[in-house]
Amino acid sequence: MHEEKILVIDYGSQYTQLIARRIRENNTYCEVLNPSSLNKKEIYSNVIGVILSGGPSSVTNNDTYDLPDLLFKKNIPLLGVCFGMQLICKKFNGIIKESTSREYGKAVLEITKDVKIFKGVNKSIEAWMSHGDSVIKAPKNFTIIASTNKKGLSAIKSDNKEIYGIQFHPEVTHTLDKGKIIFNFVNNICKSNGSWTTKNIIENQVAEIKNKVKNDHVILGLSGGVDSSVAAAIIHKAIKDQLTCIFIDNGLLRLNEKNQVEEGFKDFKNIKIIYIDSSKLFLKRLHGITDPEEKRKVIGKTFIDVFQSEAKKIKNAKWLAQGTIYPDVIESAASSDNAHLIKSHHNVGGLPKDMNLKLLEPLRELFKDEVRKLGIDLGIKPKLINRHPFPGPGLAVRILGEVREDYADILRSADDIFIKMLHDRGLYNKISQAFTVFMPVKSVGVTGDGRSYGNVVSLRAVKTIDFMTAKPFDFPFDFLEEVSTRIINEVPEISRVCLDISSKPPSTIEWE
Ligand code: XMP
Repeated sequence: MHEEKILVIDYGSQYTQLIARRIRENNTYCEVLNPSSLNKKEIYSNVIGVILSGGPSSVTNNDTYDLPDLLFKKNIPLLGVCFGMQLICKKFNGIIKESTSREYGKAVLEITKDVKIFKGVNKSIEAWMSHGDSVIKAPKNFTIIASTNKKGLSAIKSDNKEIYGIQFHPEVTHTLDKGKIIFNFVNNICKSNGSWTTKNIIENQVAEIKNKVKNDHVILGLSGGVDSSVAAAIIHKAIKDQLTCIFIDNGLLRLNEKNQVEEGFKDFKNIKIIYIDSSKLFLKRLHGITDPEEKRKVIGKTFIDVFQSEAKKIKNAKWLAQGTIYPDVIESAASSDNAHLIKSHHNVGGLPKDMNLKLLEPLRELFKDEVRKLGIDLGIKPKLINRHPFPGPGLAVRILGEVREDYADILRSADDIFIKMLHDRGLYNKISQAFTVFMPVKSVGVTGDGRSYGNVVSLRAVKTIDFMTAKPFDFPFDFLEEVSTRIINEVPEISRVCLDISSKPPSTIEWE
């Protein structure tokens, strides 16, 4: 039970999770809930504030979303952003004008009233707008506190309650308030006690894990990714040798993956990590399979088979730990209410259903950036924590068509050169995900005096916030030339290096 929290009600804005992260950055716990939750009495306990998100709906032609009286009963501070502001206006009988055109992009906001929410914010700032409908008359007993030279009112406040509406998006960095609007709402209006800190999260989780697990044993599938690594670290802190991590090499990992995990956990005394090399089994089962979804299925099933047979050897194992994080939880909840985001990928290490183990998910309440901070504080090496995401099916979705051991070896060597060069040039942390893709086609080259006939690889590097959309990374040309030369010189099977410059959409980040 959290001693205090802010609720973020999700009306389907692409920025909802960003609002939640901004609140967390102010050391305050928050939860993202569906609009229908507002009708449930039990959600209001320990709530110090509510933020209504933006969203694609219009209040002028739909009655789907109405704010219930229950929300106003305890005088909990309320902030409506965009669509959220329009809902507040609708509730208190302001006038909202339907519009066919959107006000989208930057606008200059003039702050006209000295109010708590704008404390420390310059009187005139650039703000990010993204709305169709506009509030043209504030409700009775509300005051206009900011406006732009564009259409509609930009911010309002109730005269006698802590109820605010803003038409722009304070959560995005394009709004140049230096984070002060959300800071003010959280700290000066909701009066948060700021207790959501990495130190407290670790202490609370450690106590909770101890309390749940008691003398039982926990098993965890360690993949080398951030989430499973941090889950392992916090559980290890809580119950030490009652945790056994199982690291399965499926033959589709990056070069020296096992060493990277060992290196990452170097400072963890006595952490039990069992390394299983099942690459032969995986590659055998993948033989002749070319369809990407089929490859994913085979890998998922094989993973469970191997994991299960290893787990059986561990006595008294009652718990299966997983690195589920908060966006996974929100997305599966959202798909049952206002379905706007449905996760298309499931991690391979899913729960083997017939294992009869209880689930332990110590990161369920955390965003990725919080998980990373926790990992560092728990003592995992930063290089492991800051790695780009790597898909569960590994190189199988980066080798087009049939997966073969020799292809995987060639790809691993090329990818290692690319990734090391990104580190050396200080580019790795500027990119969200970078990797190399193997194409099972041959192309002619000239090496020395003769003709060579080798494979083709493509480099892929993208920038993205949420992996739902992505842009290709803009490389300096000399860097590309150098990677290409090095890969062709150092990996004799490769004769040609290409660069993938597609965006997502319409392409995906992975090639399969
Ligand atoms: P796409 O290719 O769909 O990828 O644009 C978006 C993100 O998801 C990762 N990805 C996967 N992760 N199992 C995973 O655990 C998968 O089957 C899978 N497929 C793609 C991809 O690496 C990117 O970060």
